[in-house]
Amino acid sequence: MGEVKMTLPFTRMPSPFQSLPVPAPDPIFAIMTEAVAAGTKAINCTIGVVMDEDGQTTLLPSVQRAINDVMEDLKHQRFGYPPLLGVPAFRSSVERLIFGEKHPYTVASIASTGGTGALAINLRLMAMLLQSKRILLPSPAWANHPPPCVAAGLAVIEVPYLENSIPTVQPLIEQLKKEKGDVGLLLQAGSHNPTGIDLENEQWADLVRAIKEKGNCIVLLDCAYQGLKHGVEKDVAMVHLFLRENIPTLVTWSAAKNHSIYALRPGLACAVVPDATTKSSVEGHYSRITRSIHSASSTVGQLVVARVQEHYKEEWLDDLKQVRTTLARKRKAMIELIPATCKAALRGFGMFAMLPLTQEQILRLKNEHNVFMTLDGRINIAGIPDARIGEFCAKVRKVVGS
Ligand SMILES: Cc1ncc(COP(=O)(O)O)c(C=O)c1O
Repeated sequence: MGEVKMTLPFTRMPSPFQSLPVPAPDPIFAIMTEAVAAGTKAINCTIGVVMDEDGQTTLLPSVQRAINDVMEDLKHQRFGYPPLLGVPAFRSSVERLIFGEKHPYTVASIASTGGTGALAINLRLMAMLLQSKRILLPSPAWANHPPPCVAAGLAVIEVPYLENSIPTVQPLIEQLKKEKGDVGLLLQAGSHNPTGIDLENEQWADLVRAIKEKGNCIVLLDCAYQGLKHGVEKDVAMVHLFLRENIPTLVTWSAAKNHSIYALRPGLACAVVPDATTKSSVEGHYSRITRSIHSASSTVGQLVVARVQEHYKEEWLDDLKQVRTTLARKRKAMIELIPATCKAALRGFGMFAMLPLTQEQILRLKNEHNVFMTLDGRINIAGIPDARIGEFCAKVRKVVGS
């Protein structure tokens, strides 16, 4: 047998794919990849994951038990298509977490692929409702907030959120007054990403007043960190504040951080609606939206969350308390050791703080000291082991020169 030569049957034509501009990499995933490649000498404060002392993703004991149960169940299952809206027990247990055990609201909901999928779905619903196709976004915002807004066809109007590391609501209120028609607002319910610094209660109250005065607003509350600030009930206080005032409100929710199941991707998109007829209509739209993206979301993560909430809730609340205690301890230790110019940035809650470092200092931290963070100075405090906080702060002191 002679050698078979593979020849192309036609001259290679230019491919339309080659005309695509090369996109910028995702700022968070790109630096995370660099940190992981640098190995154990790296201090990886890039992506928002709660890690243990060895740099491994934390697995909450309550969630581990639920995963064991679900895995056992799956051995005896067949895998037909799930409902487009997701696993009913998941949706109802997350609705109870967000709105309260015996809440009075009528809620339309759909399970999503992560909190990001919930954003994509709710932003598309918002775009169907807004004539203006405009959404206000306090900035700095999570790096992945503008892209799904734009993908939904909304123009993003960024409004300053911080003045010298202190949150301000005034620019948002001013912008609301300027908006002529209807408008959307994308707000974070707590443990703000990337700053860790949330609005104070009076500021929330001022904002709610301004929204009511303007009328014609739809608010989307992004709730990706429920339980990481003060506790699961307190961390959704803003949701109730908006609903008490009858402001049209959408909520997006993620189980990534509070169940520590980033890879399983369960999330929920909800809308609080006036009655059962509207609920059915909104859920119909949710179903059509998800069908047009990727049909139903994967159900394994949903089953895990439902199992945690139905069988291991008390244990899970204790696990979350432990996460909060760890975060508070790390912040305290850092505040003592970090240069004076960075202390105010660390006084927030949740996983993140945004250090006032220059890009040059951030690059020196990476290139000379193996400390990895995004170029805006955001650090994931939950990614720095206790044993390396001293080392981290000493390295920051070196580049800051104090
Ligand atoms: C503010 C905010 N919203 C939504 C999400 C999305 O979460 P998920 O990983 O479930 O898509 C994140 C994740 O980092 C986030 O920080």
